[in-house]
Amino acid sequence: MTPEQAEHRVFLDRYYRAARPLYDVTRKYYLFGRDRALDALLTRPWASLVEVGPGTGRNLEILQSRRPWASYGAIEAADAMLERATVRCPWARFQRAFAEDADHGAVLGRPPQRILFSYCLSMVQRREEALQRALAQVAPGGEVHVVDFADLGGLPRPLAAGLRAWLALYRVTPLDPGWLAGLGADMSLGPGRYYVLARLRRPG
Ligand SMILES: C[S@@+](CC[C@H](N)C(=O)[O-])C[C@H]1O[C@@H](n2cnc3c(N)ncnc32)[C@H](O)[C@@H]1O
Repeated sequence: MTPEQAEHRVFLDRYYRAARPLYDVTRKYYLFGRDRALDALLTRPWASLVEVGPGTGRNLEILQSRRPWASYGAIEAADAMLERATVRCPWARFQRAFAEDADHGAVLGRPPQRILFSYCLSMVQRREEALQRALAQVAPGGEVHVVDFADLGGLPRPLAAGLRAWLALYRVTPLDPGWLAGLGADMSLGPGRYYVLARLRRPG
Protein backbone atom coordinates (compact mmCIF):
# COMPACT_ATOMS: atom_id res chain seq x y z
CA MET A 1 0.00 0.00 0.00
CA THR A 2 1.40 3.40 -1.00
CA PRO A 3 1.25 6.40 1.38
CA GLU A 4 -1.39 7.91 -0.99
CA GLN A 5 -3.54 4.78 -0.68
CA ALA A 6 -3.19 4.75 3.12
CA GLU A 7 -4.30 8.37 3.21
CA HIS A 8 -7.17 7.64 0.79
CA ARG A 9 -8.41 4.83 3.06
CA VAL A 10 -8.36 7.16 6.08
CA PHE A 11 -10.41 9.70 4.07
CA LEU A 12 -12.89 7.04 2.84
CA ASP A 13 -13.39 5.58 6.30
CA ARG A 14 -13.98 8.97 7.89
CA TYR A 15 -16.36 10.03 5.12
CA TYR A 16 -18.34 6.79 4.85
CA ARG A 17 -18.62 6.17 8.59
CA ALA A 18 -20.49 9.46 8.75
CA ALA A 19 -22.45 8.98 5.49
CA ARG A 20 -23.21 5.24 5.82
CA PRO A 21 -26.50 5.43 7.75
CA LEU A 22 -28.15 7.57 5.06
CA TYR A 23 -26.09 6.35 2.09
CA ASP A 24 -28.74 4.39 0.18
CA VAL A 25 -31.55 6.90 0.74
CA THR A 26 -29.53 9.92 -0.35
CA ARG A 27 -27.60 8.37 -3.28
CA LYS A 28 -30.72 7.46 -5.19
CA TYR A 29 -31.14 11.20 -5.83
CA TYR A 30 -27.81 11.67 -7.55
CA LEU A 31 -26.14 8.37 -8.48
CA PHE A 32 -28.30 8.11 -11.60
CA GLY A 33 -28.04 5.33 -14.17
CA ARG A 34 -27.21 2.54 -11.74
CA ASP A 35 -30.40 0.60 -12.42
CA ARG A 36 -29.89 1.02 -16.16
CA ALA A 37 -26.40 -0.42 -15.75
CA LEU A 38 -27.73 -3.41 -13.81
CA ASP A 39 -30.46 -4.02 -16.43
CA ALA A 40 -27.81 -3.90 -19.16
CA LEU A 41 -25.67 -6.41 -17.29
CA LEU A 42 -28.60 -8.78 -16.89
CA THR A 43 -29.52 -8.84 -20.59
CA ARG A 44 -26.69 -11.29 -21.31
CA PRO A 45 -25.58 -14.59 -19.76
CA TRP A 46 -22.81 -14.74 -17.15
CA ALA A 47 -22.37 -16.62 -13.91
CA SER A 48 -19.75 -14.66 -11.96
CA LEU A 49 -19.33 -10.97 -11.20
CA VAL A 50 -17.01 -8.86 -9.07
CA GLU A 51 -17.97 -5.28 -8.19
CA VAL A 52 -15.12 -2.87 -7.46
CA GLY A 53 -16.15 -0.41 -4.75
CA PRO A 54 -19.52 -1.96 -3.84
CA GLY A 55 -20.19 0.55 -1.08
CA THR A 56 -23.09 -0.71 1.04
CA GLY A 57 -23.71 -3.66 -1.33
CA ARG A 58 -26.81 -2.17 -2.93
CA ASN A 59 -25.97 -3.25 -6.49
CA LEU A 60 -24.83 -6.73 -5.46
CA GLU A 61 -28.06 -7.27 -3.54
CA ILE A 62 -30.18 -6.35 -6.59
CA LEU A 63 -28.10 -8.50 -8.94
CA GLN A 64 -28.23 -11.47 -6.59
CA SER A 65 -32.02 -11.19 -6.24
CA ARG A 66 -32.36 -11.25 -10.04
CA ARG A 67 -29.67 -13.84 -10.82
CA PRO A 68 -29.33 -15.93 -7.65
CA TRP A 69 -27.42 -18.78 -9.29
CA ALA A 70 -24.38 -16.59 -10.08
CA SER A 71 -21.29 -16.14 -7.85
CA TYR A 72 -20.64 -12.65 -6.53
CA GLY A 73 -17.59 -10.92 -5.13
CA ALA A 74 -16.30 -7.45 -4.39
CA ILE A 75 -13.13 -5.43 -3.93
CA GLU A 76 -13.44 -2.54 -1.49
CA ALA A 77 -10.90 -0.11 -0.07
CA ALA A 78 -12.94 1.29 2.82
CA ASP A 79 -13.43 -0.67 6.04
CA ALA A 80 -16.54 1.38 6.77
CA MET A 81 -18.20 0.04 3.61
CA LEU A 82 -16.84 -3.49 3.98
CA GLU A 83 -18.46 -3.75 7.41
CA ARG A 84 -21.86 -2.90 5.91
CA ALA A 85 -21.61 -4.86 2.65
CA THR A 86 -20.40 -8.10 4.24
CA VAL A 87 -23.45 -8.17 6.51
CA ARG A 88 -25.84 -7.25 3.70
CA CYS A 89 -24.39 -9.73 1.19
CA PRO A 90 -23.33 -12.82 3.19
CA TRP A 91 -23.34 -14.90 -0.03
CA ALA A 92 -20.61 -12.73 -1.62
CA ARG A 93 -16.83 -12.93 -1.17
CA PHE A 94 -14.91 -9.77 -0.35
CA GLN A 95 -11.35 -8.58 -0.82
CA ARG A 96 -10.07 -5.58 1.15
CA ALA A 97 -7.98 -3.89 -1.54
CA PHE A 98 -7.57 -0.93 -3.87
CA ALA A 99 -8.86 -1.03 -7.42
CA GLU A 100 -5.40 -0.14 -8.75
CA ASP A 101 -3.65 -3.25 -7.45
CA ALA A 102 -6.37 -5.73 -6.45
CA ASP A 103 -6.28 -9.39 -7.44
CA HIS A 104 -9.68 -9.72 -9.14
CA GLY A 105 -9.11 -13.37 -10.02
CA ALA A 106 -8.54 -14.32 -6.39
CA VAL A 107 -11.88 -13.02 -5.11
CA LEU A 108 -13.89 -15.98 -6.43
CA GLY A 109 -10.93 -18.28 -7.06
CA ARG A 110 -11.14 -17.73 -10.84
CA PRO A 111 -11.34 -14.73 -13.18
CA PRO A 112 -14.88 -13.27 -13.04
CA GLN A 113 -16.95 -13.06 -16.24
CA ARG A 114 -18.06 -9.54 -15.37
CA ILE A 115 -16.47 -6.69 -13.43
CA LEU A 116 -18.61 -3.70 -12.43
CA PHE A 117 -17.49 -0.18 -11.46
CA SER A 118 -20.53 1.78 -10.29
CA TYR A 119 -19.65 5.35 -9.29
CA CYS A 120 -16.28 4.05 -8.12
CA LEU A 121 -13.80 5.02 -10.87
CA SER A 122 -14.57 8.72 -10.30
CA MET A 123 -13.13 8.28 -6.77
CA VAL A 124 -10.15 6.15 -7.70
CA GLN A 125 -6.83 7.99 -7.62
CA ARG A 126 -5.23 6.13 -10.58
CA ARG A 127 -8.27 5.31 -12.70
CA GLU A 128 -6.44 4.31 -15.90
CA GLU A 129 -4.48 1.73 -13.94
CA ALA A 130 -7.63 0.47 -12.19
CA LEU A 131 -9.56 0.04 -15.43
CA GLN A 132 -6.66 -1.59 -17.31
CA ARG A 133 -6.12 -3.97 -14.42
CA ALA A 134 -9.79 -5.01 -14.45
CA LEU A 135 -9.64 -5.54 -18.22
CA ALA A 136 -6.57 -7.73 -17.83
CA GLN A 137 -8.16 -9.77 -15.04
CA VAL A 138 -11.70 -10.31 -16.29
CA ALA A 139 -12.16 -13.76 -17.84
CA PRO A 140 -11.32 -14.05 -21.57
CA GLY A 141 -14.48 -13.06 -23.47
CA GLY A 142 -15.71 -11.27 -20.32
CA GLU A 143 -16.76 -7.65 -19.89
CA VAL A 144 -16.04 -4.67 -17.66
CA HIS A 145 -19.07 -2.41 -17.10
CA VAL A 146 -18.86 1.17 -15.88
CA VAL A 147 -21.51 3.63 -14.73
CA ASP A 148 -20.31 6.97 -13.40
CA PHE A 149 -20.45 10.75 -13.62
CA ALA A 150 -19.73 11.96 -17.15
CA ASP A 151 -18.59 15.42 -18.29
CA LEU A 152 -21.90 17.17 -17.37
CA GLY A 153 -21.58 18.92 -20.75
CA GLY A 154 -25.33 19.09 -21.38
CA LEU A 155 -26.15 20.90 -18.13
CA PRO A 156 -26.31 24.69 -17.77
CA ARG A 157 -22.73 25.85 -17.14
CA PRO A 158 -23.23 27.27 -13.63
CA LEU A 159 -24.98 24.07 -12.56
CA ALA A 160 -22.21 21.89 -13.99
CA ALA A 161 -19.53 24.04 -12.33
CA GLY A 162 -21.33 23.93 -8.98
CA LEU A 163 -21.75 20.17 -9.20
CA ARG A 164 -18.07 19.65 -10.07
CA ALA A 165 -17.00 21.82 -7.13
CA TRP A 166 -19.31 19.95 -4.75
CA LEU A 167 -18.09 16.54 -5.99
CA ALA A 168 -14.46 17.64 -5.62
CA LEU A 169 -15.04 18.14 -1.89
CA TYR A 170 -15.59 14.38 -1.70
CA ARG A 171 -12.68 13.58 -4.04
CA VAL A 172 -14.98 12.72 -6.92
CA THR A 173 -13.79 13.68 -10.42
CA PRO A 174 -16.27 12.98 -13.26
CA LEU A 175 -15.07 10.73 -16.08
CA ASP A 176 -14.20 11.93 -19.56
CA PRO A 177 -16.40 9.94 -21.99
CA GLY A 178 -13.73 10.50 -24.67
CA TRP A 179 -11.29 8.51 -22.55
CA LEU A 180 -13.68 5.52 -22.47
CA ALA A 181 -14.44 5.84 -26.18
CA GLY A 182 -10.70 5.80 -26.88
CA LEU A 183 -10.45 2.48 -25.08
CA GLY A 184 -13.03 1.03 -27.46
CA ALA A 185 -15.99 1.04 -25.05
CA ASP A 186 -19.59 0.69 -26.18
CA MET A 187 -21.05 3.77 -24.57
CA SER A 188 -24.19 5.71 -23.90
CA LEU A 189 -24.70 8.94 -22.03
CA GLY A 190 -27.49 9.93 -19.64
CA PRO A 191 -29.52 13.14 -19.96
CA GLY A 192 -27.34 16.27 -19.80
CA ARG A 193 -24.28 14.01 -20.10
CA TYR A 194 -24.71 13.56 -16.34
CA TYR A 195 -23.67 9.92 -16.39
CA VAL A 196 -21.95 7.51 -18.74
CA LEU A 197 -22.58 3.80 -19.21
CA ALA A 198 -19.70 1.90 -20.77
CA ARG A 199 -19.01 -1.71 -21.64
CA LEU A 200 -15.50 -2.92 -22.46
CA ARG A 201 -14.96 -6.44 -23.72
CA ARG A 202 -11.84 -8.59 -23.28
CA PRO A 203 -11.33 -10.65 -26.43
CA GLY A 204 -12.00 -14.37 -25.90
C1 LIG B 1 -19.75 6.44 -4.48
S1 LIG B 1 -19.43 4.87 -3.74
C2 LIG B 1 -20.34 3.79 -4.85
C3 LIG B 1 -20.84 2.56 -4.15
C4 LIG B 1 -21.65 1.58 -5.03
N1 LIG B 1 -20.84 1.05 -6.09
C5 LIG B 1 -22.89 2.21 -5.57
O1 LIG B 1 -23.09 2.25 -6.79
O2 LIG B 1 -23.73 2.65 -4.75
C6 LIG B 1 -17.72 4.57 -4.18
C7 LIG B 1 -17.17 3.30 -3.55
O3 LIG B 1 -15.86 3.08 -4.09
C8 LIG B 1 -14.95 2.80 -3.00
N2 LIG B 1 -13.61 3.20 -3.42
C9 LIG B 1 -13.11 4.44 -3.56
N3 LIG B 1 -11.84 4.40 -3.99
C10 LIG B 1 -11.52 3.08 -4.13
C11 LIG B 1 -10.35 2.38 -4.57
N4 LIG B 1 -9.24 3.04 -4.94
N5 LIG B 1 -10.39 1.03 -4.60
C12 LIG B 1 -11.51 0.36 -4.22
N6 LIG B 1 -12.64 0.96 -3.79
C13 LIG B 1 -12.64 2.32 -3.76
C14 LIG B 1 -15.52 3.61 -1.85
O4 LIG B 1 -15.05 3.16 -0.60
C15 LIG B 1 -17.01 3.37 -2.04
O5 LIG B 1 -17.42 2.17 -1.46
